[in-house]
Amino acid sequence: MGTTNFYLEPNSVCSGIATVPGDKSISHRAVMLASLAEGESQVVGFLPSTDCEATLKAFQSMGVKIDRFTETNVRIQGVGIKGLRAPSDKLDMGNSGTAMRLMSGILCGQQFDSILVGDHSLSSRPMRRIQKPLLQMGAKLVTDEDGTPPLTIQVSSELVGLNYVLPVPSAQVKSCVLLAGMYAKGKTCVEEKTPTRDHTERMLQTLSYPIEVNRHNVCVEGGGKLLASDIEIPGDISSAAFLIVGALISNKAVLTIRNVGVNPTRDGVIQILQLMGANIQLTNPRTMGMEPVADLIIHSSELHGIEIPQALIANSIDEFPIIFIAAACAEGVTTLKGAEELRVKESDRIAEMVKGLKVLGVDVDEKPDGLIVKGGELNGGEINSGGDHRIAMSFAIASIKAKQAITVLDTENVMTSFPNFVEVLSKLGLKITQQISQH
Ligand code: S3P
Repeated sequence: MGTTNFYLEPNSVCSGIATVPGDKSISHRAVMLASLAEGESQVVGFLPSTDCEATLKAFQSMGVKIDRFTETNVRIQGVGIKGLRAPSDKLDMGNSGTAMRLMSGILCGQQFDSILVGDHSLSSRPMRRIQKPLLQMGAKLVTDEDGTPPLTIQVSSELVGLNYVLPVPSAQVKSCVLLAGMYAKGKTCVEEKTPTRDHTERMLQTLSYPIEVNRHNVCVEGGGKLLASDIEIPGDISSAAFLIVGALISNKAVLTIRNVGVNPTRDGVIQILQLMGANIQLTNPRTMGMEPVADLIIHSSELHGIEIPQALIANSIDEFPIIFIAAACAEGVTTLKGAEELRVKESDRIAEMVKGLKVLGVDVDEKPDGLIVKGGELNGGEINSGGDHRIAMSFAIASIKAKQAITVLDTENVMTSFPNFVEVLSKLGLKITQQISQH
């Protein structure tokens, strides 16, 4: 079997004008909720990544008619909240924790059994966090002995509403419970001490579902209806983050990224980089449906190390790999604490980043819940992505500042979130080539 690697020449740049593909979190939710709505929804700006395609395919296999006009323009004929049909096979969620955890909430409310499986990485991710509240609602969901997928869901009697206090800040768990809540008797509320991304809440509102939203508490009424609506999806700030850091660490770059989602539950990366001295401006603020959007203008900046504020962790949880690259290029020390969740993402992102930064000669100290990075010069070397798209893309961006070439091994996974990464970054000046190696 062949694997894809990136080869990156040192000392390049990330400058110019770009757009990034549609938001991954919102694309999943658009497909899920438009499929359950009454009527036809047109989704524009859908992310054609392997993660989101897995969600789309799962709904097709449950009887939802979905037409593709282009890769990013999709028309969904909703079947109504009770209109899904039993799939003929297991539902394969690929690499996507979001797909698996959100779908579980929906599937627990159906009148058919289902089995959810995933790839090697997803098969080792913790699912007790969704199993616990779903069982409390009366669902029948079984995990492997160690709490990981596959997930077997059986028909249960009607779910009952739940008041659930999130034990870990997780939008996936919050969303799973709220989606199950649509099928439950009475009201289901989720309380979160730390606000997490609120795309499910916004998408439910877009599709007219009865929901009450407060800063720390969200409630849905069971037995409501979703009504179709056209949905425009903004560019993914998590993908934009690679370009942003690329421009910041470049020599004399000015980068404009158009149409980036800047939902306040997702913009922690901008705030953290600004605290490090980054020159990032938001212009042309507007909304796409319920989601705030802006164009970003980034100038190369002299970054300095900081202690990352706890309050910004949940809102930048996916951006730490690339924030660590910024920290490695900054003057002084950057410290992150209280981010143990990074160990249960697509890979153990603390361990993988420490390994890769050490290859580049960076002075880094691993902690159970974070790390300490001392900025300095970056060497080249060979780095394994650990099967994780964001690790692969982070080290590709590190090459901008590296003194020698970097090879990133196992980069096929970039297709899960940013399918045209090589094309977009090449146009901006990154010296990147893809290589297929045979094993
Ligand atoms: C996501 C929530 C986050 C994030 C993931 C996408 C979502 O996961 O890391 O990439 O779309 O709800 P957690 O809920 O596990 O923090």
